[in-house]
Amino acid sequence: MIAIIGATGTIGNELLRRLMELSVPVRALTREPDKLRQQMGDLGLSKVEICAADANDPESMRRALEGASQLFLALSNSPRQVELETSIIQIAAQEGIEHIVKISSPAYEKSSPVAVAGWHAEIEQALVASGLIYTVLRPYAFMQNLLRLAPTITTQDVFFGCIGDSPCNFIDCRDIADVAAVALTNQKPACGIYTLTGSETFTYPQIADKLSTLLNRPIRFINLKPEALRSDLIVHGHMPPWLAEHVVEIQTMSTAVPEKPTNTVQSLLGREPRTLDAFLQENRNSFQARR
Ligand SMILES: NC(=O)c1ccc[n+]([C@@H]2O[C@H](COP(=O)([O-])OP(=O)(O)OC[C@H]3O[C@@H](n4cnc5c(N)ncnc54)[C@H](OP(=O)(O)O)[C@@H]3O)[C@@H](O)[C@H]2O)c1
Repeated sequence: MIAIIGATGTIGNELLRRLMELSVPVRALTREPDKLRQQMGDLGLSKVEICAADANDPESMRRALEGASQLFLALSNSPRQVELETSIIQIAAQEGIEHIVKISSPAYEKSSPVAVAGWHAEIEQALVASGLIYTVLRPYAFMQNLLRLAPTITTQDVFFGCIGDSPCNFIDCRDIADVAAVALTNQKPACGIYTLTGSETFTYPQIADKLSTLLNRPIRFINLKPEALRSDLIVHGHMPPWLAEHVVEIQTMSTAVPEKPTNTVQSLLGREPRTLDAFLQENRNSFQARR
């Protein structure tokens, strides 16, 4: 039995769909079962066990993991992420889980300004110390994040950042889910740490060019100072300050350390990663002008 923590999440929901296609026994964990049912719509969940579980309530987690042998773990970011994921790993070890596939983030260096990467490094250490078999997936930025730029693209034909023209890795979450599915169905990889990217990097000005061509109207990337981006994300993007800080930290990191693609997705899945062009084309409607 494969348990999914984060079954309503960006990666976890795609993984649930893959595992349903493969007809393997799967248990979807969520704090809100009705949200999951709604999300799955016509696809239904008749072949899936749904379990209400909240990482803030260790007993609910313990009940939800009982009898499962494998665990997928992708928890949304929060200032309590280290505490919650570490507690889940401990419960998983006690409940007889054999293998955990954890979603982490790109490798953490002590000099890194990205606090969330430091959280993931701590959780990874707890996972290694647990003695369980682990597969750590370290994806770079999700292509799906670009959908969050839609509000200003659709209304003002612009999007903001503080990343300048640094090359960035992007990966489609569906590729991350495909790699997780392979790991959880005991194909490969069995154990280890894998950095996941698409096959090429793009700068934000290049993304603006791609959007301009796709939408047939000029879209501009506006590079702000980090402080200006932080306050824009809080004031106009309604982000909590810690999350705005996270976005600024990631973009600052990308300007300091130019990103390079890996060929991990290709080597694990035997096919090229999904492309940014295909993702933008598929989501063209989300960026159409609305005014
Ligand atoms: N976005 C990026 O570009 C990026 C890049 C690299 C790494 N990451 C990492 O990816 C991870 C997030 O993955 P994602 O985007 O697929 O996740 P997500 O969409 O943020 O959702 C994750 C899930 O966490 C569950 N969750 C939150 N709090 C919970 C709690 N207290 N108890 C039980 N479940 C809880 C939610 O389930 P319910 O609401 O249904 O309970 C949700 O389905 C983060 O750790 C992040 O650092 C993200």
